[in-house]
Parts: sequence; structure tokens; C-alpha cells
Amino acid sequence: MKVEVINHPLVQHKLTYLRKSETKPRDFRKLLEEITNIVFIYATEHLSLKKITIDTPLERTVTCILDETILLVPILRAGVGMLNPILSLAPDARVEFIGLRRDEKTLEPIQYYSHFSSSHPDTTTFILDPMIATGGSALYTFECLSSAGLQNISIVSIITSQHAAQSIEKKKGLQLFTASVDPELNGKGYIVPGLGDAGDRIYDTF
Ligand code: PRP
Ligand code: URA
Repeated sequence: MKVEVINHPLVQHKLTYLRKSETKPRDFRKLLEEITNIVFIYATEHLSLKKITIDTPLERTVTCILDETILLVPILRAGVGMLNPILSLAPDARVEFIGLRRDEKTLEPIQYYSHFSSSHPDTTTFILDPMIATGGSALYTFECLSSAGLQNISIVSIITSQHAAQSIEKKKGLQLFTASVDPELNGKGYIVPGLGDAGDRIYDTF
């Protein structure tokens, strides 16, 4: 439906260092969290608010709080690297995990874990994964969540391939927020120029 690239200068600056092959896991994790933080701000721009009345030290006033139930679904492993900065912005969010790895030959996602409790259809759901390459893992997760009745689903990512962005754009009810749309996928399904294997760079498992 909607693909939004966050071209904020701070995001683009930090993404350059995230991509660099010399960046060590400790800095990679920090940059990933900082970029996620800003991308999530854009992804939540239209959350609904409700009015409440509070007392400040000076007077009674009508003000706003969030009127949303938020569900975060990090895709194991790399999506977990995006969880902390998002929870610091949305501390009341629920979190469910899905474990997927790509088959090296077919590039199809293979599920090795999932846990989805029942959620109200209006729950605002964010799939977290830094790398959307073929789009297979993110779209598989979207289908699982849609089958569970969820209707308002977005993907929060860092780098998305052009190929995946086009597939996501065609999906009704799915939005994508990303820091970059990169042009190519190589023969092994890696995003080019990309940043390599995000899971390995976060967890130092080369
Ligand atoms: C990576 C990445 C995505 C997936 C993207 O995970 O974090 O989940 O690949 O590829 P796709 O769009 O072609 O499905 P990977 O399978 O390497 O597992 P990991 O996070 O455990 O390293
Ligand atoms: N997964 C990654 O971590 N990086 C890619 O480029 C593609 C899939």
C-alpha cells in the first residue's frame, strides 16, 4: 500500500556508518538502535489519541494520551536488534516473536518459532526486521498476522530491496517504513549495496 523512505539527514548519516564494513558489532548495534528510533517516530505519526483531563501543579487541563494497542513482532534474529529503542518509545506495547531463517538455496523463509496470542483486530501491529531482501520473511509474517485477524500492519525496516518494496506496495493493508530502498539483490539474495548479514553483524556470529 504505502512505502515511506525516511530521508531524514540524521538517518542517512547514521546509515552510512551502519553500512561500512569496518563498523564493529558494538557500534553496529548502537547505530541500528538510533536509526530504528527515528524510523519508528515516522511510522507512528498517525497513531490516534484520546483526550483526558489532568491536573498540572497550576490548573486542570484537557490533554491527550495514546488511544492504541500496539503489538511489536520482531523477526528473529535480526529484528530483536530493533526492539529496545521501540520499547523505550512505546513501553506499553505487547511483543510476540516469530523465528524465521531463509533456506540458502530457495531463499524461502523457514519458520522455527512463533507465538501469537489472540489480539483485537484493531491492534496496531509493527513487524520489525532491519533487512527486507526478497521480502519473503516479512510477507510470510504479514500473512500469519493477517490470518490471525490483524488488519493494521506495518513493517519497520532499515534497508529494503527495490524488488521487495514493489511487492509490499501491492499488498492491501500493509505499510512499509524504511531508511533506504536499495536497488539490487545479488545471486545469494543479499541486498546490494546493503550492509551484509544484519544478524551476524549484530551478534558477531560471522
Ligand atoms: C535475514 C533478515 C530477514 C531476512 C530477509 O534473516 O533479518 O529476516 O533475512 O530476507 P528475505 O526478505 O529474503 O526473507 P536471516 O534469515 O539471515 O536470519 P537471522 O536474522 O537469524 O540472521
Ligand atoms: N538478510 C540480511 O541480513 N542481509 C541481506 O542483505 C539479505 C538478507
